[in-house]
Amino acid sequence: MQHFKVCGGLLFLCLISCIGCRDSLLQLAERQLTLSARKYDALAAATVDSVNLPRTATPDGKWVFAPPRWWTSGFVPGSLWQLYEYDRNPVRLEMARRFTAKVENEQYNTSTHDLGFMLYCSFGNGYRITGEAHYRDVLLTGARSLISRFHPLIGCIQSWPKNEKWQYPVIIDNMMNLELLMWAFKQTGDSTFAKICIRHADRTIAEHFRPDYSTYHVVSYDTLTGRVQVKNTAQGAFDESVWARGQTWGLYGFTMLYRETGLSRYLNQAQKIADFLISHPAMPADGVPYWDFNAPGIPNAERDASAAAIMASALLELGSFSDRDQRRRYHRFAEKQIRSLSTPRYFAQPGENGHFLLMHGVGHKPHNSEVDVPLTYADYYYIEALMRYRRMAGDRDVDS
Ligand code: GLY
Repeated sequence: MQHFKVCGGLLFLCLISCIGCRDSLLQLAERQLTLSARKYDALAAATVDSVNLPRTATPDGKWVFAPPRWWTSGFVPGSLWQLYEYDRNPVRLEMARRFTAKVENEQYNTSTHDLGFMLYCSFGNGYRITGEAHYRDVLLTGARSLISRFHPLIGCIQSWPKNEKWQYPVIIDNMMNLELLMWAFKQTGDSTFAKICIRHADRTIAEHFRPDYSTYHVVSYDTLTGRVQVKNTAQGAFDESVWARGQTWGLYGFTMLYRETGLSRYLNQAQKIADFLISHPAMPADGVPYWDFNAPGIPNAERDASAAAIMASALLELGSFSDRDQRRRYHRFAEKQIRSLSTPRYFAQPGENGHFLLMHGVGHKPHNSEVDVPLTYADYYYIEALMRYRRMAGDRDVDS
């Protein structure tokens, strides 16, 4: 009896001391990064395949692998690099190197626009953190491969191969691959890289965006005239719908391009996209979007944790470029998203979810592929958002 009284008293004291207080976002970021590092150590240790990379997991925790040429191949190495940067665990450094090496041959791949995702997340983080000359060489070769896909008349880098429907498809996701090119420009001084980025981004502003600043997923161009052929979707609900991850690629891409170029039209574009998303009537209260803002079945449609993670990371950076009121708005929204993603509703328990961090991502709903599953890119941008917040809090550069 006495024992129960003491325990009950302690529990009561704990509850009282917790009322009205919650971890600061910085404390939460530290805790989540520590947990994430443990999960990724387990993921890397369990990967015996010497060629392919974990891509997602089935509900019973079995991995689906991606070959190095698949667009997501850079994210597991990139997450390992970011987590190595967090705690400098030398074992994870070796893992990051091992996983990065798997992607190396993609530097010669001229058949995809995804080289930014594949190489900049893996080799780019590796080079930033270690300064290793070989990593720089790989990135520069990859950047040259990427610009081989630029069409001077159209002014864009081609995303996907032509088919019966599309002569020259360019997807909004492609904005993300420009970071590799801006890096190459700064490394070499060769302005070709920067000029291609600016032409691609300007044409994207002109053709991809609707008046409300939502974006089409796919714009295909006529290769003879350079004019728009059609505007469609591939991964969204329908052509005129607002596919969630596509919006966040645009938000992140223009924020990044403002950082890299200082051109105010990119800041303006990013802020307009952010305002559209934050105030969208179909944005759920926890800040984790449905896979498409026009998805059939809302509010029972699947959420896409990857869109929330990309958006949170982008908003943290965008806030630091914005005036006081906008900055507060963006940072508060990002904080809400990070807190939501860190709850057990989205953040998996240790040993579950194939060792991936986040549950409830949507890859390609119209193909019924990777629906309500872990996604390596959701984890990568979630870790990036935590690291970004931690850095910004250290510099006292964050509003929350
Ligand atoms: N193409 C990249 C994505 O699915 O978002």
